[in-house]
Amino acid sequence: MRTPIVAGNWKMHKTVGEGVALASELVKASAEFDGCKVVLCPPFTAVAAVANAVKGSPIEVGGQDVHWEAKGAYTGEVSCEMLLDVGCSWVIIGHSERRAMFGETDDTVNFKVKAALASGLRPIVCVGESLQQREQGLTFDVVVSQVKAAFGGVPEDQAVQMVVAYEPIWAIGTGRASSGADAQEVCARIRSTLASLYGAITAETIRIQYGGSVKPGNMAEFAGQPDIDGALVGGASLNAQDFCGIIKATLDAVKQRQQ
Ligand code: PGA
Repeated sequence: MRTPIVAGNWKMHKTVGEGVALASELVKASAEFDGCKVVLCPPFTAVAAVANAVKGSPIEVGGQDVHWEAKGAYTGEVSCEMLLDVGCSWVIIGHSERRAMFGETDDTVNFKVKAALASGLRPIVCVGESLQQREQGLTFDVVVSQVKAAFGGVPEDQAVQMVVAYEPIWAIGTGRASSGADAQEVCARIRSTLASLYGAITAETIRIQYGGSVKPGNMAEFAGQPDIDGALVGGASLNAQDFCGIIKATLDAVKQRQQ
C-alpha cells in the first residue's frame, strides 16, 4: 500500500508571520495525520520560518520551484542546496502556472527534476492538460508526454523518490474539480506510463496525486480511487480547517479502500 501524500501549495500567499501561524495550527493537529504524509510548500521567503515551526512534527516542507544550476548569476532563482539549507525535503516542479506564465518547459522540468534528485530533494512533478487539449481529446497524449519528459534519464532508484501530481489546468483555482472517475482514468494512464519506463512493480510504488480545486468535501472522491495517492492543494491549503479536512478525508478513504 502506498502512503498517501497531501501537499499544500501556498503559491504567492502568506507572510512569514501568517505562514508560521498556519504551520503552528497544523502542528497542533498533526497527531491526526498518522498514515498520511503532509508537506507544506510556502513561498521562498517563509520556508525557513515554516520549517522551523514544524520541526519535531511529522510535517515536511518543500519549495515551490528550484533552479537546476548549483550557483551562479541567475537573478531571482534559488538552488537545491539553498532549499535543503532552510529545511526543505521536497520541491514542486513544473506547476502549470510556471509552465504558462514563467516559461517552464518539459526540458527545464527535466533539468530541475534531475538536479533535485541529485541533491536529495524529492520532486513533486506537476502534469496536466488544458481545457482545449481535453476537448480535443489530447489529454492522454499531453500527460503521457509530460511524464516521459519529466522522468527522462532518471534511473529507477531515483524515480521511486518522485511524486507525480496530475493537475488538469482547467480545474486549478476554478472551483471546478475533475470527477473522481476522470482523474482516476488519467492517473491510471500515468501509472501505466511509469510501468513502461520502470516496470510494473516500481510503478506501483510511485505516488500520484490529484490536484485542482480539492476541498474537504470532494477529497473522498479522489482518495477513494485506486491510482490516486493524495492531493496537491492550492486554495484549500491556506487555512488549517480545510487542509486538515482534506487530510482526514484522505485517511478515511484510504482506510475504506483497504477494507
Ligand atoms: P487549487 O490549486 O487547489 O487552488 O485548485 C491546486 C494547485 O495549483 O496545485
